Amino acid sequence: MNNIPRTNKLFPFLCLVCITVLLNAIHGSSQPNKAESLILGCGLEEGGGKDADGRQWEPDNKYVSGDKSVISKASFQDPSLLSVVPYMTARIFPSEATYKFSVQPDKRYWLRLHFYPALYSNFDPSNSYFSVTANGVVLLTNFSASITCQALSQAYIDREYSLAPLNSDSLTLTFKPSENHDGAFAFVNGIQLIQMPDLFDTAAMVGFVEQSVDLKAMHSQTMFRLNVGGQFISATQDSGLSRMWYDDTPYLFGAATGVTIQAAKDVMINYQSMPQYVAPPSVYSTSRSMGEDKDVNLHYNLTWVFSVDPNSMYLVRLHFCDYYYSKVNELVFQIFLNNQTVTNVFDVIAVSGGKGVPTYKDFVVYTQGNKGFSNNLWLALHPSVEQKPSYYDALLNGVEIFKVNDTDLSGPNPLPSAMLEEHEEKERSFAEDDDSISATIKKHIVIGGAAGGAGFAVVAAILIFAHKNKKKAPASYSNTSSWLPVYANTHTNGTKSTVSGKSNGSGSNHLSAMTQGLCRYFSLQEMKQATKNFDESNVIGVGGFGKVYKGVIDNGFKVAIKRSNPQSEQGVNEFQTEIEMLSKLRHKHLVSLIGFCEEGDEMCLVYDYMALGTLREHLYKGNKPLETLTWKQRLEICIGAARGLHYLHTGAKYTIIHRDVKTTNILLDENWVAKVSDFGLSKTGPNMNQGHVTTVVKGSFGYLDPEYFRRQQLTEKSDVYSFGVVLFEVLCARPALNPNLPKDQVSLSDWALQCKRKGILENIIDPCLKGKINPESLNKFADTAEKCLSDCGLDRPSMNDLLWNLEFALNLQENPDASHDEIHQFEEVNLNDNNDMAAHST
Ligand SMILES: *[C@@H]1O[C@H](CO)[C@@H](O)[C@H](O)[C@H]1NC(C)=O
Ligand SMILES: *[C@@H]1O[C@H](CO)[C@@H](O)[C@H](O)[C@H]1NC(C)=O
Ligand SMILES: *[C@@H]1O[C@H](CO)[C@@H](O)[C@H](O)[C@H]1NC(C)=O
Ligand SMILES: *[C@@H]1O[C@H](CO)[C@@H](O)[C@H](O)[C@H]1NC(C)=O
Repeated sequence: MNNIPRTNKLFPFLCLVCITVLLNAIHGSSQPNKAESLILGCGLEEGGGKDADGRQWEPDNKYVSGDKSVISKASFQDPSLLSVVPYMTARIFPSEATYKFSVQPDKRYWLRLHFYPALYSNFDPSNSYFSVTANGVVLLTNFSASITCQALSQAYIDREYSLAPLNSDSLTLTFKPSENHDGAFAFVNGIQLIQMPDLFDTAAMVGFVEQSVDLKAMHSQTMFRLNVGGQFISATQDSGLSRMWYDDTPYLFGAATGVTIQAAKDVMINYQSMPQYVAPPSVYSTSRSMGEDKDVNLHYNLTWVFSVDPNSMYLVRLHFCDYYYSKVNELVFQIFLNNQTVTNVFDVIAVSGGKGVPTYKDFVVYTQGNKGFSNNLWLALHPSVEQKPSYYDALLNGVEIFKVNDTDLSGPNPLPSAMLEEHEEKERSFAEDDDSISATIKKHIVIGGAAGGAGFAVVAAILIFAHKNKKKAPASYSNTSSWLPVYANTHTNGTKSTVSGKSNGSGSNHLSAMTQGLCRYFSLQEMKQATKNFDESNVIGVGGFGKVYKGVIDNGFKVAIKRSNPQSEQGVNEFQTEIEMLSKLRHKHLVSLIGFCEEGDEMCLVYDYMALGTLREHLYKGNKPLETLTWKQRLEICIGAARGLHYLHTGAKYTIIHRDVKTTNILLDENWVAKVSDFGLSKTGPNMNQGHVTTVVKGSFGYLDPEYFRRQQLTEKSDVYSFGVVLFEVLCARPALNPNLPKDQVSLSDWALQCKRKGILENIIDPCLKGKINPESLNKFADTAEKCLSDCGLDRPSMNDLLWNLEFALNLQENPDASHDEIHQFEEVNLNDNNDMAAHST
């Protein structure tokens, strides 16, 4: 799939939506008795406050009764909180209390509840268990926000309900501490009550012939809302209903994850009679499909897995829009839910009526606790072979999953996964013989790195291990560094912020990131404190930008601090590029930027600390003996790094080319999770109308794409080339360039290709790996690396194909007995032959 640059035609439209949402919010608040739109920050003072998206939150005191409630500020701000409002203040209820809102009796409402389980003065969140009801409809019982967040590896949780018409002109929201726990209390940080259109009708019940469920009178809780094949959509970018849409990748099952495609620029999403609020165009203009290879597609199901409560009813809404094919019977596929056939023939064009016309389909499934599905809901797509469509493929643009019930939506608190428990056990023992704060530190590192835009969507806690004990977070959290409120960029001197358009701030780019609340500002004093006045003993690395120091902030949270060399002109630009890029990018396999410092000549960037350092130092490093990485570990690290790069290339708003992919820019956290770092040289490609960006050649010798070098044209395939060198480095455990070796061996890429073609690659692989790699896995890996080093960018695989192949190599290593047929099918994937490749030149 070509990467189509992600320019955003929808921008003006989205802005309109933002304005509408804002206006609604303001409008609602000025008429407190007509709840069309109430956005309440619980415990906020007179005047309210704005969140990171610029939405205004009003104080809640006019609506609450039960005089024992207490207002408190959280004593600790988790780094993954993207906004102070509404999370940092809470209203706490030691006894039953109610909110009362006026509503229209015949209208449906969104009710969103926001919880951040932190320590509030002496209220410990682990003692908080409570129920919430809305006019008698049970929303939560015995709810522990703390356990829920812990199980999901999130710092905060947003719950979204859609309440059917209540036949009453008031809504009473009751918070009641649990009677089964001594000292239990209830709390809430934010409440949104927003009138919404009737989104639901009737839907077929899966597994029951001709049975359908009337959803009009049902209340629902949003469990998942995914922009399949696309990126996160924030509340202000939604089509008027302030919903958040998340990336679908955490829910994909297995190695075969298909390909993502974005609509070409000239395709308009044509809603026809469907109201646009059903889902925004940004949902319909991205999708995931199976891939181009028919034989591969016939042998797998494109599958997503969701964790749900047993014995409950779920509405699954699938969004489709085919902006590629235009005729009936070109693309026909089957849909399965929980391994039951929902339909054998689904033809998007036939259903929607044409190319670029969106449509959606609702199904209701009942999850039974006793059939082995207990906690999972499976969604799978497969080409409809019987129908003989022109292409064996399948397509999905969006998914929403709602739990539905007419009286009770509550469920048990989730259990942390076994893996999480095991990890915590280890961490506890580690904490005992290490300094007392290490557990807290780890917690931060993990959360900061993984959370991103967590929300109600349940993030599959796969490799994300968390934390314990918010109690350990110092109660007297020193408030020396502030998260700047939106628009208040007092420390800079400039003219314009791209986001607000209101401030009189500077023209420098990083302001936009800051005003969006994505990035924290540190004073120089704090940087000095963190690094013992930039003590040389704290230096952990040196780069073009300057030195990198280890540091400790907020009483124990370890960070890496990059300090610019004031002499470096290049530094200033790269500094701004990094802030601008990194603050917007959140991905498990990218190093998270926490904040920055800019004072006088001093510039620092503050990142999550990566406990295990660079990939390179685990492959080879002078004479220091190291525990050797196994082949499986190496593959997993390569896969992680490839995912990070894939996200840069396709997951963000613009195609982002890293430009300096190498083993020292792949860092490892304490769980060996690979994270790509160093975006100082990155280039976005919003104007890539010729599919490339012309620039001055930058990057590192030994990894440079020869095509880029010759033509000075940068494409994502330049990163793929460099990644190919990384792959050989991982296999051979030697540097990309080693001038001490005989001439033909100096450059790893030349030498490895030469050996590969002569069939003697085995001779140069890391001696520690000899005899430990499954030969098929080695072949797959080496073939893939070779393709990456193709002289011509077009012959190199995309990051997505690369991922597929690496995952397959891992699969071959782990399941050497997989049927040969199957291996053959995978063999063909996207590795087009180009044997007559010209000899690669330096
Ligand atoms: C609604 O919830 C109640 C209580 O959990 C349960 O007994 C009932 O079966 C549910 N109804 C539906 C339609 O799922
Ligand atoms: C796809 O899923 C359906 C339903 O679970 C199953 O019957 C079928 O065998 C699967 N097909 C493949 C190729 O895995
Ligand atoms: C449903 O299908 C998935 C994948 O095809 C499989 O792993 C799971 O075990 C199946 N569940 C049951 C109960 O058959
Ligand atoms: C409340 O939740 C906790 C934690 O999930 C659980 O241990 C306890 O048994 C629950 N209590 C009741 C009464 O359901």
